[in-house]
Amino acid sequence: MPPSSDLKFLGKRIVLGVSGSIAAYKAVGLLRSLVQEGADVSVVMTDSATRFLSPLTFEVLSRHPVATDLFAAHQEMLHLTLPEQADVIVIAPATAHVLAKCALGLADDLLSTMVLGATCPLILAPAMDGGMWDHPAVKAHTDVLRSRGVTVLEPEEGPLASGREGKGRLSEERVILAAIEAQLRPRRDCVGQRVLVSAGPTQEAIDPVRFISNRSSGKMGYAIAQVARERGADVVLVSGPTALEVPRGVEYVPVRTAEEMCKALTSRFSRSTAVIMAAAVADFRPKRPSSGKIKKSGMTWQNLELEPTEDILEILSRQRTNQVLIGFAAETEAVVPHAEDKLTRKGLDLIVGNNITAAGSEFGSDTNAAVLIDRTGRVTELGLMPKRALADRILDAMLALGPSSKGSARKPPGRA
Ligand SMILES: Cc1cc2nc3c(=O)[nH]c(=O)nc-3n(C[C@H](O)[C@H](O)[C@H](O)COP(=O)(O)O)c2cc1C
Repeated sequence: MPPSSDLKFLGKRIVLGVSGSIAAYKAVGLLRSLVQEGADVSVVMTDSATRFLSPLTFEVLSRHPVATDLFAAHQEMLHLTLPEQADVIVIAPATAHVLAKCALGLADDLLSTMVLGATCPLILAPAMDGGMWDHPAVKAHTDVLRSRGVTVLEPEEGPLASGREGKGRLSEERVILAAIEAQLRPRRDCVGQRVLVSAGPTQEAIDPVRFISNRSSGKMGYAIAQVARERGADVVLVSGPTALEVPRGVEYVPVRTAEEMCKALTSRFSRSTAVIMAAAVADFRPKRPSSGKIKKSGMTWQNLELEPTEDILEILSRQRTNQVLIGFAAETEAVVPHAEDKLTRKGLDLIVGNNITAAGSEFGSDTNAAVLIDRTGRVTELGLMPKRALADRILDAMLALGPSSKGSARKPPGRA
């Protein structure tokens, strides 16, 4: 056994899902390798999987009871506690049935219910015979899952259990282990990047007690800051008031108003390689905030005069040397045209549009379904995914765009 410091998965908690494929026996070898590399593995089997192999085998090798039954596990609420504690969930082998359930969000057993509650990365290693992999339904489910950021490994070609030849063999163990390692060991591809992230709402005072604000939770910006840091960037997080914990290793600049946020960002802008404006900055603030508390006098409040706040993105766009500028467009309808318009008006390199009325993308949720539009006009629709996974996709796009220049942002059609 290698010395413990060399163990690839030391201290990592992995849920290994096993479903009813003839390749289920290969999960035994996978489990052994994971345990040998220091992982703490909990195995969840589908009912069909138990027809192929006894849970006892996995129990002995994982040194944990094997969970199979959603209802037998109700006291520990395993469908919630297992994914909460897991660093990664890997389902190997994943049947066509499991693929379909994950894609459709069906939850009729412990494994599928657990997948729905998970925010950690999910890896599926499909195995299937007789041309099932080529069926349009399986392809559609695979596409949906990949668009949500799920890793669906490509099965291998070769002799199948039925004696036929074709694509459907479970990926080799080393391929599955590499996929797990890739998820557990964050990439370091943002080293050298200095990323300025804004997050949360701003608060614009009416008087010393009251303010105008919005429903932003800050979760998206904090996820970006955290993932960028994990990927090696130097990160400054300029944040309005939130209830979130500041990610480790990130320089934190708390602000309250749009004006403070603007100052914090513009003063740090020249030292940055990229700015990601995930904050929901107030568009208007009370023109004459009262220095004393406004009394409830029994009268109706006729007017609260508002003035526009600083247009931070526009200011940054003007100050830009070669920083990549990334903005957000939270819309309630026509997301793509509105986002494209904002991208062009503000001279951005990338815009992340989302419909805040869509299920799973509301303010405060842990997931988001976004569309990415870059300065070349490329539109990438992403499915619903955890905000951490979306943060990764935004950072991938940031790196792919490379340094910006004043002239490289998209011009409105027909204009010089
Ligand atoms: C001998 C045998 C082998 C099977 N192998 C596979 C397989 O490799 N892949 C697959 O998708 N289904 C396979 N099936 C069908 C699944 O077991 C079946 O669809 C089952 O409902 C899957 O349940 P689960 O996804 O909940 O585990 C096999 C069935 C039998 C009887």
